[in-house]
Amino acid sequence: MANPSLLILPGDGIGPEVMAEVRKIIDWFGAKRGLVFDVSEDLVGGAAYDVHGVPLSDETMAKAQEADAVLLGAVGGPKYDKLDFSVKPERGLLRLRKEMDLFSNLRPAQCFDALADFSSLKKDIIAGLDIMIVRELTSGVYFGEPRGIFTEGNERVGINTQRYTESEIARVARSAFELARRRGNKVCSMEKANVMESGILWREVVQEVHDKEYPDVELSHMYADNGAMQLVRWPKQFDVIVTDNLFGDVLSDCAAMLTGSLGMLPSASLGAPMANGRPKALYEPVHGSAPDIAGQGKANPIACVLSFAMALRYSFDQGNDADRLEKAVEKVLADGVRTADLMQNAGETPVSTSQMGDAIIAALDASL
Ligand code: IPM
Ligand code: MG
Repeated sequence: MANPSLLILPGDGIGPEVMAEVRKIIDWFGAKRGLVFDVSEDLVGGAAYDVHGVPLSDETMAKAQEADAVLLGAVGGPKYDKLDFSVKPERGLLRLRKEMDLFSNLRPAQCFDALADFSSLKKDIIAGLDIMIVRELTSGVYFGEPRGIFTEGNERVGINTQRYTESEIARVARSAFELARRRGNKVCSMEKANVMESGILWREVVQEVHDKEYPDVELSHMYADNGAMQLVRWPKQFDVIVTDNLFGDVLSDCAAMLTGSLGMLPSASLGAPMANGRPKALYEPVHGSAPDIAGQGKANPIACVLSFAMALRYSFDQGNDADRLEKAVEKVLADGVRTADLMQNAGETPVSTSQMGDAIIAALDASL
């Protein structure tokens, strides 16, 4: 059988340097665990714009559709701020999500014991935290029509449309219920049914899918603003949160910061199963391209490394090796290895991006 294929899109800013560490780890799994991938690399975001004049070429899009999984670094940077909206680096990422139909975006927020002091919240509120935000990723206000900036009378008006169909809500709800069954068996659905019709429909459909197909899972509903408040008040009340594209964008940044550093958090974006049974999938760190530190070897590669762990788990059914990689990261953190973003006290010396990668590999070696 052919090796599974992995398309790597390092992108912009710190993307290439964190991805270089992931490449080392992919090679390690090939050499030491017999998990050999057909890896190819291509351009996305500003890097693609510089070469092709678009943030994602049709050829790269086609490759992404064919790949067993796509691993992306980050897109964007100040150099591209003035570009026309249609060719901004972010449009490359949004095109991948939309055309691959990656409707279910899994954003875990997990607190590593070694970093429990690191959060802006008190330690007892976040120690042991392990929640999963499932964000709808291909619809809602990100893609709804009409959209644009129009002229009305003597002034301009900016328009975006929040739009959800029943089937779009039902499929992301199913993916949240499925996940919950493998975790704490609890789902909290968040919307604004008090002010938005799309929220009323969201609540009804999630409840229907629950009652018909997942009555064994505990379901609750919450207004998204209350959800934001509850996330900082007592995040451990949650197991799986399911929410729409825009609320998910905001709530997942909030959940991410509970854990202390954006540099730690991976994500998976999953679509429908392909002919080989694997879901269409794209894995990426939650953090952005961090142009202020790009190219300096300061970036924390852990979010990207953990994104590869999610690929092992959700695309390649290698749960044990995903655990192995996650434990290696935990070990390195417990040993006090820290990149600059994880420094607490002046006078501590951070390791570089590649030293962090090497430390993770040493911990993987020790796991054999
Ligand atoms: C995210 C990001 C993206 C989004 C941007 C880069 C388009 O904030 O993945 O959360 O808004 O979805
Ligand atoms: Mg975001």
